[in-house]
Amino acid sequence: MNNKTKKKTRTKPHSKAGRTAAEPSRRAGKKSSAKSRGATGRRPATASKRAPGRKGAKAARTTKRATPITAVAMLDPRRANNQVQGALEAAFKRCLAHGQFIQGPEVEAFEKQAAAYLGVDHAIGVSSGTDALLVALMALGIGAGDEVICPTYTFFATAGAIWRTGAKPVFCDIKPRCFNIDPEDIARRVTPRTKAIVPVHLFGQAAEMDPILDLARTHGLAVIEDAAQAIGAEYKGRRVGSLGTVGCFSFFPSKNVGGFGDGGLVTTKEGALAARIRALRNHGGMGQYQHTEVGGNFRLDALQAALLAVKLAHADRYTAGRQQNAALYTELFHQAGIGAVDHTGAPCATSCPQGVAYDGVPLILPAACQNRHVFNQYVVRLQSTELRDRLQAALKAKNVGSAIYYPRPMHLQACFAALGYKAGDLPVAEAAAACSLALPIYSELTEDEIRYVVEAVVRFFAAEGVTPIARSAA
Ligand SMILES: Cc1ncc(COP(=O)(O)O)c(C=O)c1O
Repeated sequence: MNNKTKKKTRTKPHSKAGRTAAEPSRRAGKKSSAKSRGATGRRPATASKRAPGRKGAKAARTTKRATPITAVAMLDPRRANNQVQGALEAAFKRCLAHGQFIQGPEVEAFEKQAAAYLGVDHAIGVSSGTDALLVALMALGIGAGDEVICPTYTFFATAGAIWRTGAKPVFCDIKPRCFNIDPEDIARRVTPRTKAIVPVHLFGQAAEMDPILDLARTHGLAVIEDAAQAIGAEYKGRRVGSLGTVGCFSFFPSKNVGGFGDGGLVTTKEGALAARIRALRNHGGMGQYQHTEVGGNFRLDALQAALLAVKLAHADRYTAGRQQNAALYTELFHQAGIGAVDHTGAPCATSCPQGVAYDGVPLILPAACQNRHVFNQYVVRLQSTELRDRLQAALKAKNVGSAIYYPRPMHLQACFAALGYKAGDLPVAEAAAACSLALPIYSELTEDEIRYVVEAVVRFFAAEGVTPIARSAA
């Protein structure tokens, strides 16, 4: 495939809740125009310093000759930040001028903006996504002797925060298509000691929340949504972070709303809980030097809040770009005959198959189920670890970034050995850890860059002697 001659196919950003962003577009083959690209626009790599938008896209099409792509990074936060550089500098100067760097109006304004965006009454800025989880667990009074159920297939912070309260993390298996916690497995693991469930909205897609919330109601459990990767994601039309008892978000630079260092947010609809979280984030102090309980320094910096407020205003644009990129990957892999979305079985709400049906397809592409998936990651699955690792090496040789999220599930981490899990205990998660690979997906990637990644994958399979499947079978 040649970058210069290949016909461009683009799909509009998927803006509606419930739409399956990763499904092959019905518009495949239709030539895109600047108009049909939506507000984000697209530009070739040569114009990467240009602000996006229609004007940028139009100018890009008249660029004399696109420089051939030779590398695609897993992430380049500078691109999104450069687009709003003026506003970021203004926010920074404002903070320099007023000099209030701890709490105060910048944090309050950001919290109000975040609460409105997420559809919650209270949003509390904190120092990181990890601390969001920790302070939420502390505010719910979870500690020694308690059990907290969470998925084994997640970033370490989910389990680490539970452990740090003195409670016991109880690991659950996942659903194979969406990679999210399996509600039926949660039900099997509830005991009289269980105090909370921590579903993780992994890779930007909501976990199957209805059965989880039902279970929590039945057993009187708190639900702490780990929405670190999923700001703006929706479950049946409702934003994640507004569904459970509390929601926890991260602004780590790789997240959809990426910060300038660490930052996080806790959301809740409960006023008393919000007050407790506010106190705990500031050493448990209710007034100056008066401490009713022991908290920590979990504060979000005012400077960070001021800068994040600029980025949060563009959250839907970032999401649209990621959804658009996901749709293009899916469409191109489908067209090349090497990838398919696994549509076998019913949606998770009823029954999701326990294994992935490869049916001879080299790559299983991410399924958006019935959710508004915000694609913090675009994670494909291969048929074996060896193939996955060889593909990653081949991508590296072409200067394409990729990542394995996550190579070792929590139940097999050395630090949790005392919990007594062994290999084979949570097989769906173990299979996902063994065979999945995340490709670059950030919203400012150009169409040519995505085509370069797909081309590298296609060439890899050709070199492996893998026969593309007939398109109708994909
Ligand atoms: C699922 C999940 N939970 C929690 C966190 C922790 O967030 P932070 O890095 O902001 O502490 C992350 C960050 O990657 C995450 O992906």
